[in-house]
Formats: sequence, structure tokens, C-alpha cells
Amino acid sequence: MTVITCIEDLRTLARKRVPRMFYDYVDVGSWTEGTYRANERDFQRILLRQRVAVNLAQRSTRSTMLGQEVAMPVAIAPTGLTGMQCADGEILAARAAKAFGVPFTLSTVSICSIEDVAEGTQGHPFWFQLYVMRDRGFVERLVRRAYEANCSALVLTLDLQISGQRHKDLKNGLSAPPRLTLRNLLDMATKPRWGLGMLGTRRRTFGNIVGHVQGVENMQSLAEWTAQQYDPTLSWDDVAWIRRLWDRKLVLKGIQDAEDARHALASGADALVVSNHGGRQLDGAPSSIRALPAIVQAVGGRMEVHMDGGIRSGQDVLKAVALGARGTYIGRSMLYGLGALGERGVQQALQIIHKELDLSMAFCGRTDIREVDRSVLLPADPSPAFFNDPQGDFA
Ligand code: GLV
Repeated sequence: MTVITCIEDLRTLARKRVPRMFYDYVDVGSWTEGTYRANERDFQRILLRQRVAVNLAQRSTRSTMLGQEVAMPVAIAPTGLTGMQCADGEILAARAAKAFGVPFTLSTVSICSIEDVAEGTQGHPFWFQLYVMRDRGFVERLVRRAYEANCSALVLTLDLQISGQRHKDLKNGLSAPPRLTLRNLLDMATKPRWGLGMLGTRRRTFGNIVGHVQGVENMQSLAEWTAQQYDPTLSWDDVAWIRRLWDRKLVLKGIQDAEDARHALASGADALVVSNHGGRQLDGAPSSIRALPAIVQAVGGRMEVHMDGGIRSGQDVLKAVALGARGTYIGRSMLYGLGALGERGVQQALQIIHKELDLSMAFCGRTDIREVDRSVLLPADPSPAFFNDPQGDFA
């Protein structure tokens, strides 16, 4: 077997091991996938400043996110259907995150439930991502369940009141569990590890929802329920309501605009996440790394600014931190590890990114991630105007 040395290796292996519809669900953006691609591409266009002859013997990537110690400024992003990449995927990813010392965020639309993850990690605190659904009673119960499961932060996603169209998901007839069509059966027959894992678990549909909403006992009613449940009326009043319900750390995810960042600040949340939902919602939105500087400036140090979208390496983490992100999140990089090698694959994804971050920081002549700022980038003081020439080089 080839030696795994980078996230791309994990992606290649995941593609071989995960049934097509679930691999595609991850490696997809909305419509033309322009924003999805830009998330990665814009990182490549930022240049790091090499320095030499600095004592690099003692180095640290340790930092804090939301006041919590982290081994590096990288959290696991909330991703839907994670337990379909690999049986019990959310539990395995949460265990890997716990062992590595980074936060794990569980999605509302996960396969393993809040309670499953709490049990699978012996009550270790994790973060819970919330969608505001039309059924506010359900939302309230979900928040209470997260509280009781010792979740230390609530990550409220604001950019999915309505869903972006992802062509592959429609063409593949995405569902959890998958429908037993001839096409799916033939595909699954070529993914025996995945199939054996799935036979060995009872968790094959949306664990936070089935059994917790009256009338939702099976896949069919669940599909109908989620289609109706994302709430297009979501407003800042709902954010204020959630703030009142939840007295632990609150994070607002999906901010792309300085004006919305000011609303986020006024809401009393503890952090915001600059995010375009991995390029899965508004195709044509700027990449997250491009949107980041203006938001950091708007917030002016009054709340933590995190970002996600396009992080496939430690160099990307370093660049995001240099542009003012207190923390970053990995979604696909984690999912590729999970699909490729289960818990060990997530550990490997974290190790790869950590090593790249540590060494890149050192090549820039820095020894402490908490002291990294724009001066690690070329030119010494890149302005947001840098991001305005879509074809041009940053240097
Ligand atoms: C859900 O959050 C998705 O992007 O599919």
C-alpha cells in the first residue's frame, strides 16, 4: 500500500473505499463549484515569507479556541452524514480529536446522536452545531440534550436556511441509509470494508432526529421532515433566542460579510466562523480566506474570529492564522481520513496537518503559533486589496 503523507493521499483512498454517493456528498460544491474550488485555490496564492538562522529548537503550535486549550488552532468541523463515510464515524472522529487535543464539533444532521458521541468519548466535552428548524420545540430539546451531554460550545449555523443545489447529490439520489437500488448495491459490493462496518452498527440514519420527533420513525418520513424543516424565516431574533437558551460558549457560523459580522458582535456570541459552508451554498461567494481580513477588521478583536473552507494543509492553517483567524476547522480533510482509514485516518489527517503547520511556521522563522501575524506573509503587509485581482499573483 502507498505510504500516506498528505491529505490528498487520504482523499484518493477514501474515494476507493466509500460508496460513490457518500464520497460525492463530501467532494461537492453547489452549482458550478466555483466557490468550492476558490476556497482551496486562494490559499495557494498567498505566499509565505521564508526566514533563516533563527533558533527553532523550541516550538509550539498550542493555542486556545473559545478559552479551551488546543494542540493546534484546528477544530473538527461539523459535517453532515459523517457516520456514512464509515460506520460510527462521528464517534471515531470525536475520539481521534480527543486524543489529539483539538475540539470536535458534531453536526445536527449527524448519524451518531449527541448521546452516542458523549458515551463514545466518556463524557469528554465536545461542540454541537445547531440548525434552527421550524419546529422550535425540537430545537429547544436539541439544545437541552447538547447541554446535558456536556457540550461546551454551541455552533449555530446561519447560512443554511435554504439549501444550495449540489448536482451530484440529486443525481446520486443521496439518502441515509442508501436506497437498495441495483446501482447502489453494485457500488456497495465493491466497498466491502464499508459494508461490513455498516452491518455491524445500528446507526445508519440521522441519530439526533429519528426517535426524537413524533412521527419520524423511518427514512421516508425523515426525508420529508428535513426538507420541510430548514427554516427560511431565520433572523437575528432567533439568534437572540438561542443566546438566551444557551449560557455556555456560542459560535455563529456562516459569516462572509463585515455587516453581518457586526450583527454577530452585537448578538453577544463568543466567536464567529467565516464560512461559505465549504462552497456548498452560494456559488459565487468569495473564498473564506479572501473574506477573512475584512471581517477580522470589522470585529476589531472584540470576539474570536474562526474560519473554515479549503484547509487541506498546515500551510493553510498558518496563512489563516496570519490573516487573523484565532482558529480554523477541517471538514473534508477529516472526512477523507475517516473514509480512508476510520479513526486511524482522522488521527493521520490531524498529524499531517500538525506536522505541516509546525514545520511551515519554523521555515518562516517562528516558534510560537500564538505570535504569528501578517508578517509571516509576503509582502510584509498584504492588504485586503490583494485579494481583489482574481487572476493575479499575491507577490
Ligand atoms: C449540510 O450541512 C451540508 O452541507 O450538506
